[in-house]
Amino acid sequence: MSGVDRVNQTLESEAPSLFKLLSPMGREAYFPPDIPFQAKEAAGTDFNGTIGVFTDGAGNAVPLPAMEDVLDFDPEERNRAFLYSPVLGIPSVRDAWQRWQRTGQPDQAPAEDQITTRPVVLGGLTHGLSMVADLFAGPGRHLVVGKPFWGNYRQIFRLRTGAQLVEVDVYRDFAYRPSALVDALKALPAGEPALMIVNFPSNPGGYSPTVEQRRDLRQGLIEAAADRPLMVICDDAYGGLVFTEGVPNRSFFWDLLGAHENLVPVKIDGATKEFAFFGGRVAFLTFGLELSKAATEALENKMQCLSRATIGSPSATSQMILLRGLESGRVFDEVSEIRRIARERYLAVQPALAALDPALLRPLPFNSGFFVLMELNPELVLDPHAVRKHLIEHYSTGIVAAQPSYLRVALCSVSAEALPEMFRRIEAGVRELANA
Ligand SMILES: Cc1ncc(COP(=O)(O)O)c(C=O)c1O
Repeated sequence: MSGVDRVNQTLESEAPSLFKLLSPMGREAYFPPDIPFQAKEAAGTDFNGTIGVFTDGAGNAVPLPAMEDVLDFDPEERNRAFLYSPVLGIPSVRDAWQRWQRTGQPDQAPAEDQITTRPVVLGGLTHGLSMVADLFAGPGRHLVVGKPFWGNYRQIFRLRTGAQLVEVDVYRDFAYRPSALVDALKALPAGEPALMIVNFPSNPGGYSPTVEQRRDLRQGLIEAAADRPLMVICDDAYGGLVFTEGVPNRSFFWDLLGAHENLVPVKIDGATKEFAFFGGRVAFLTFGLELSKAATEALENKMQCLSRATIGSPSATSQMILLRGLESGRVFDEVSEIRRIARERYLAVQPALAALDPALLRPLPFNSGFFVLMELNPELVLDPHAVRKHLIEHYSTGIVAAQPSYLRVALCSVSAEALPEMFRRIEAGVRELANA
């Protein structure tokens, strides 16, 4: 039997829902036993002439001194940072992140018996989403997503794989309605494998569902999974950034583990926003399944194949910087400080939002995350891009415009003190155009 058939057969017998969800590319993906594989097998030999990595002849990195000086690494860290990372990530980084996933919201930690796969390292959350798209999306596959959503999902899923986005209005009448997502899933052809993506706290909306909304969504997804293999992708880019009392902070991913045999929860998270390590490009992909060793290896085999075919391997240097943080003993306090400042900005903007003239602008539900999203009064028929340009030119204010009528403000990059004035200018600019 060929290698790819063996890997597929393992997944088919041990993780049948996941197997049915694989895209044509996902089925074909197979990590051939070529260079990285052979180098791994030869690790520890006296004369290792496998991988194309320049060393001192004894396995040690030889960084240029001018570059090495930038990083205060000990010799072992230096080796790991300057040589190739394993394609799935540095093992200690994978383990340290797995601990963080379980301790980052100490008051809402998942139960110990909630088993997941070991997180795989990817080159930023975007790459994590692309990996999921390559493995599970493809021509004709439906991806249900609540709108407004992060527009890059279109490029990642539709443009790159040919999947079809089912865009659902989840903020009808300025309230979040998870039932709309479930209805869209149930309306798909019976039995057809499907994907759904949730992003809490959301971008661009800055929203996380309440306890009741999460309960309803979970229940609806269990019902929808009765009909089809269903993958729920939790884009946790803004994990931990919930500011409102009573709104759950931990990932919705944990609510889905073991919920239904057809339901495959996937978590994509990372250091980008949670650790303010935007340039580091370190993210993780985790499946909410308890897999046997053979099934884990089969799935990891496919991920290695696709990672090697796209980024080669993830940045070792960034992983080592992240590992310093994760092992420092200070990381929880330092991440809490980011959360505190983000919350301060969230609070600072509340009076401005409450005072907005609804004849001009109305905020969408907002309780978390880095962004506030406002809708221009549709009766004004203003082009959001015209508003955006007007605000730059006449009010020295930069915001993001999104069709059909949204303005998004990234509170994460404006100080709490500056926000009232910023919102005064936004409202003044919109009023000026409305009266023009
Ligand atoms: C919802 C969401 N997902 C994913 C990403 C991508 O994160 P990264 O920069 O790690 O690729 C972003 C970045 O803005 C985002 O807003």
